[in-house]
Amino acid sequence: MADMSLSYPSLVQKTYFIRTFGCQMNLHDAERVSGLLDSCGCLEASSPEEANIVIFMTCCVREAADQRLYGQCSSMKSLPDAPSGRRVIAIGGCIAQRDGERLLDTLDNVDVVFGTSAITHLAELLNATFAEGGRHVLTSENPDDVATSLPWHRATGYHAWVPIMTGCNNFCSYCIVPYVRGRERSRLFEEIVDEVEGLSRTAVREVTLLGQNVNSYGRDRYGNPRFAELLRAVGETGIERIRFTSSHPKDLLPETIDALAEVPQVMPHLHLAVQSGSSRILKLMNRRYTREYYLDLVERVRERIPHIALTTDIIVGFPGETEEDFAQTLSLAEEARFSQAFTFIYSRRAGTPAAEIPDDTPREVIQERFDRLVKVIEGTAYDYNQHELGARVPVLVEGVSKKDSHRLQGKSPMNQTVHAPVPEGVDPASLIGKIVDVDIDVARTWYLSGTVVGDPR
Ligand code: SAM
Ligand code: SF4
Ligand code: F3S
Repeated sequence: MADMSLSYPSLVQKTYFIRTFGCQMNLHDAERVSGLLDSCGCLEASSPEEANIVIFMTCCVREAADQRLYGQCSSMKSLPDAPSGRRVIAIGGCIAQRDGERLLDTLDNVDVVFGTSAITHLAELLNATFAEGGRHVLTSENPDDVATSLPWHRATGYHAWVPIMTGCNNFCSYCIVPYVRGRERSRLFEEIVDEVEGLSRTAVREVTLLGQNVNSYGRDRYGNPRFAELLRAVGETGIERIRFTSSHPKDLLPETIDALAEVPQVMPHLHLAVQSGSSRILKLMNRRYTREYYLDLVERVRERIPHIALTTDIIVGFPGETEEDFAQTLSLAEEARFSQAFTFIYSRRAGTPAAEIPDDTPREVIQERFDRLVKVIEGTAYDYNQHELGARVPVLVEGVSKKDSHRLQGKSPMNQTVHAPVPEGVDPASLIGKIVDVDIDVARTWYLSGTVVGDPR
């Protein structure tokens, strides 16, 4: 990326540190911010203490994420200046986009605020702050001025996030994302395929195609969704593993299910957020499908790919959710046999339609429902993992387990976490990004474990 350095303002000898909250979109945006700063001559620091530039990539999808920012910013006040001079604090991501200048009133030590569509201008904002002082805010720029045009500093060598579209058109009634990420904008088909082809010639083994609803990829640009076609084209690039997220059930087309079944590089894992098992609540959520439609869709997917790992997102405590509605969510979770689920307690987001729906359900009732749901998911996840007992599973090694440096940790094609002892005489670092076969002899709720067999590849 060195050839791009002349196109950006110089921040030579400055050091930066990025802390990221929220979804994969933010993780990827952080990689672009990092790439941009590298191109300006900045060096990555290993902690905020050592950095001249501390950047928070923020999330506001739920209140808890929102509140974390205030604590993080005030903790910066007690830090002494960085070894190489003053420290500038910059806020990016979805809170920056939502609150813009208002953040300066509440966070008195923040110097720069840059919205989700202003990332390409971050270097100019930082330069202005270092050169002239003052506080600089940019939240509304050309929406086509996308971060994917920037150089890229990936967090790992073996995996890459590849955004195929940004924004969302769905306006689920509880969700803030369409207000902070704008409308759907698909990247050029050829640009994505070329990018993955380029990645496949590096150490990258796996890509995850990203969008808030990948199923509608291409609709804005080409008139029709082209996601199935994109999966097939990316499958031809030479990349070994393809994943994607997220997939809105209402837009999952039969041709996409065919591509999932037929393109060997597409991993047998589908994240299909259901949100609720009650058709009444789904209507209030503006999800535009029913419980029956979702379960029928799951059946159709399983007919084509019987071993698929189905994961989901579920919200508990949407305003007005009754015990009967919740019982429908529990029974759907059992019927759909999810291998994993991200479960959330509803969080009121000002400005969304659901925030106006009155609700007097006590917090303890919602918490108790949440706990019951988690138990059901633990059961379906455990059952799903039992199928792997005795199987030989190809595992992409991510590193060693946090608890035991003698155990490898990686991911199966179905996205299960797999552990195995590091083979004798092998340096675990040499296996990161390699695929090893593991014979599974333990299957627990959240992981599998076994023994490495054969050579890594
Ligand atoms: N576009 C993705 C989809 O529809 O599958 C979801 C993206 S959103 C970042 C991730 C998840 O956060 C949603 O699927 C939903 O379960 C949850 N979520 C969004 N807004 C929420 C809210 N106000 N309260 C609780 N959970 C919320
Ligand atoms: Fe939010 Fe719904 Fe869009 Fe997902 S599809 S980002 S839940 S509005
Ligand atoms: Fe959060 Fe923004 Fe993602 S609100 S979940 S970081 S799109």
